[in-house]
Amino acid sequence: MDAVGWGIVGYGWVARDYMAPGIRAAGHRLVAVCDPDPASRAAAGREGARGHADLAGLIAEDAVEAVYVATPNHLHRAAVEALAAAGKAVLCEKPMAATLADAEAIARAVASKEIFYGTAFDQRHHPAHRAIRAQVAAGRLGTVTAVRIVYACWLGRDWSEAGQPNWRIDASQAGGGALIDLAPHGLDLIDFLLGRPIADIAALTQTRVHDYPVDDGALLIGRTDDGVLASLHVAYNCPDALPRRRLEVVGTKGMFVAENTMGQVAGGTVTFIDGSGAEEPVPFDLDASPFTEQVRAFGSALRRPAERAAYSAERDLHTMRLVVEAYESELGGGGPLSAPRGAASRMDYSP
Ligand SMILES: NC(=O)c1ccc[n+]([C@@H]2O[C@H](COP(=O)([O-])OP(=O)(O)OC[C@H]3O[C@@H](n4cnc5c(N)ncnc54)[C@H](O)[C@@H]3O)[C@@H](O)[C@H]2O)c1
Repeated sequence: MDAVGWGIVGYGWVARDYMAPGIRAAGHRLVAVCDPDPASRAAAGREGARGHADLAGLIAEDAVEAVYVATPNHLHRAAVEALAAAGKAVLCEKPMAATLADAEAIARAVASKEIFYGTAFDQRHHPAHRAIRAQVAAGRLGTVTAVRIVYACWLGRDWSEAGQPNWRIDASQAGGGALIDLAPHGLDLIDFLLGRPIADIAALTQTRVHDYPVDDGALLIGRTDDGVLASLHVAYNCPDALPRRRLEVVGTKGMFVAENTMGQVAGGTVTFIDGSGAEEPVPFDLDASPFTEQVRAFGSALRRPAERAAYSAERDLHTMRLVVEAYESELGGGGPLSAPRGAASRMDYSP
């Protein structure tokens, strides 16, 4: 029986707007949630799920086979450790944790309890990205030289999509600002598209627009160990109506340009431009939501252990290390990008 019984820890914005609909669309079942907030539990009740104020109640639900963790970042570790100890499969939101130490503890917990663990990098499941990956692997770009990503939004001090406090602007809960929130998507996507991770990384950050103490923008540069260059511009200070979700994969024989594919929703466009400048659209399933596909893939791997090779806590830990190294390069870790200048480089990250 393929339908999986899900639990959710942290029934806020992403869980309500994307994961619960994804579970439904995939034909799985949301059995129960854990959330200390009565309004969040009431929202889960409207989805037909039981609400628990504490994790023990969720864990005791035998019908919960897999648990999606979508709390603020600093709470991922405690939830994953408890779920791992109980033998539940876990799909944990990105970033893996608010600190590298917590991410390492998560990797240790899931390894020692031998549970099925994945970080919820939904961009891997967007059909546009799957199409690009397949064509890159088939050699359509020739030698891949660079990946360029813009992934930005507007996040004001009072931003809240589900009536929750804005923990994203508090480094002790989020781990940082726009960089730790948005860059993991692109870093993981590069690994997915190229089949190898970024090895070296550096960053400049800014707190340029908003009156909160975390970075509201960052520019990251990276390189794979075989020499592909990457740039990522992530930001909380970009009006949502501007073009702000763009992915380019460049090679010696052409490039892919994906617009509005990064994010939580289906759709967007992908164009292939060949070495002579001729453009052609790349077809993909415009209706398949990355969250629904993520639920399907995780559920399928839960039933068929051979498919779990697509998931790796160690790989996700490397992505987390890149985030920390990017912040540290800004803080003076050595190298040409190490000297922050004035308020435009201020940030409050403390790993
Ligand atoms: N993949 C994506 O595209 C994507 C999008 C948005 C958020 N996220 C990630 O999802 C997570 C949640 O983000 P959000 O925007 O939904 O946050 P949110 O603030 O809207 O929701 C968080 C929920 O967690 C609950 N919570 C707080 N403490 C808890 C505890 N101890 N146990 C259980 N629940 C608790 C809150 O009451 C709230 O309902 C973050 O890690 C974020 O980075 C990922």
